[in-house]
Amino acid sequence: MRIDIATLFPEMCEAVLSESILGRARKNNCLTVNCHNIRDYTLDKHNRVDDMPYGGGRGMVMQADPIYRCYQAIEAQVGVVPHRIYLSPKGSVLTQARACELAAMPHIFLLCGHYEGVDERVLEEIIDEEISIGDYVLTGGELPALVLVDTVARMLPGVLPETCCFEEESHFHGLLEYPQYTRPAVWHDKKVPEVLLSGHHQNVEDWRFAQSLMVTREKRPDLYMDYLNKK
Ligand code: ADE
Repeated sequence: MRIDIATLFPEMCEAVLSESILGRARKNNCLTVNCHNIRDYTLDKHNRVDDMPYGGGRGMVMQADPIYRCYQAIEAQVGVVPHRIYLSPKGSVLTQARACELAAMPHIFLLCGHYEGVDERVLEEIIDEEISIGDYVLTGGELPALVLVDTVARMLPGVLPETCCFEEESHFHGLLEYPQYTRPAVWHDKKVPEVLLSGHHQNVEDWRFAQSLMVTREKRPDLYMDYLNKK
């Protein structure tokens, strides 16, 4: 899978994308991520990429043309139209199910906005979908883009050691994950649940499923109701 990120802060993205599991996945060619600086595509002699909003109001708006030219360069490089996403608090909220669908796509383009937003006309022209990472407002689209890349990347073959790593986790089947424990068996007078020391595989699985149901009912009653309704 290939992901291209158009941003005014490519170093901010690279810093995150070069570390840990994502960094390793990129080195091992499980995933290609390219960060493009929108400023490299302005024709303005002072390198401007933003201007005042028509109609007045606070802040600055990112201009259409540098974004359009940046996107065109990427499309010309690849030769096919990618799935094009604008990260925005106005978008539909990212879910595990949507991330799973995105993980099946060969090529995704992510546009990160800044300041008071982006000229609407370029969104009309090049964007297929707006995605939000939650009902709150951040200073820019970089952190949301990185959240999206991380969520999608960990579902790609070879990124995590085994597919069961993400299939057993919170949200994958609509339930939150059961509690986990590691050594020592007693810590601060708290014992690890007996069943986990029993070596009885079926009992362990039954206990974990019951815990998942209980945790979801307690912490996310909305997800619990969805789960029951889908059954
Ligand atoms: N840009 C600013 N806030 C955002 C959010 N919550 N999700 C996606 N992009 C954003």
